[in-house]
Amino acid sequence: MIKIFELKNIISIKDLNKSDIDYIIDEASKLEDIAKSREISEELKGKILGLMFFEPSTRTKMSFETSMKRLSGECIGFENTGSSSVSKGESIADTAKMFEGYCDALVIRHEMEGVSKFISDIVDVPVINAGDGAGQHPTQTLLDLYTIKKEIGHIDNIKIALIGDLKYGRTVHSLANALTLYDNVELYFVSPDKLKMPQEILHDLDKAGMSYTETSNISDVIDKVNVLYVTRIQKERFADIDDYLEIKGAYIINKKMLEGKDLIVMHPLPRIDEIDGDVDDTKYNKYFTQAANAVPVRMAILKTLIKNNPK
Ligand code: CP
Repeated sequence: MIKIFELKNIISIKDLNKSDIDYIIDEASKLEDIAKSREISEELKGKILGLMFFEPSTRTKMSFETSMKRLSGECIGFENTGSSSVSKGESIADTAKMFEGYCDALVIRHEMEGVSKFISDIVDVPVINAGDGAGQHPTQTLLDLYTIKKEIGHIDNIKIALIGDLKYGRTVHSLANALTLYDNVELYFVSPDKLKMPQEILHDLDKAGMSYTETSNISDVIDKVNVLYVTRIQKERFADIDDYLEIKGAYIINKKMLEGKDLIVMHPLPRIDEIDGDVDDTKYNKYFTQAANAVPVRMAILKTLIKNNPK
């Protein structure tokens, strides 16, 4: 049963059920022409989206802005605390209360897990988590699922390997949680020992009755999957830079490794060195398409939350 119409906030992908995700995927698909400016929409005319980005972003921030503008809405906000009164010592709570007064919905990215949830508890407008530390990145997962559905044709029955920094990578946490909602998914986790999927997520999978395989070798999975979901080693989350340097470059996907395989390569981006540039011009590259898919998917999210939660 769809519950997204009653939902005010998206903090975790676990806030949504399978019908909600199907609804967003369907809506996004219908919004493609507007996302690509082949049609004009005034669905969110007069509405203002607040963007509170305490941590850097290219795709998430720009695609939320684009999505709002494609629906004739507007955006305000900051992308570094230096340009806001946070730099003068203003609290996150007070900053959020100001945005609540100015906006119809808030999108929040912060390096600390739980900040979006904290803000959603003190404001009355919808709050969307755009990545909280090593926690969750639910809207990334919605666009990842949209991409899988478009490229493979289905999400049930996929065979997918999540590769790289599974400890700190919030996109793989949200995606693993979401995949528990689908039937017959074969899930492989490929990471160095120090960057394995956190116990909390494994516990969620166990609870959902979903099996998975953990390995440190790409060669164990590359012939078994139809999606390679590659992630960056999250340098900024390491307490000791030597630990990062030891692991950096652990997995690099290149064209030669992919030749003859029936799979797609996805990546939430940014990439550093984990996908060689020679993959960019191959049929395997779906990471740029994935990034572009953020617009119709975030349009569907904004339209749903803002229209169902008027001020
Ligand atoms: N995928 C993603 O979250 O990218 P940004 O950090 O550039 O927003």
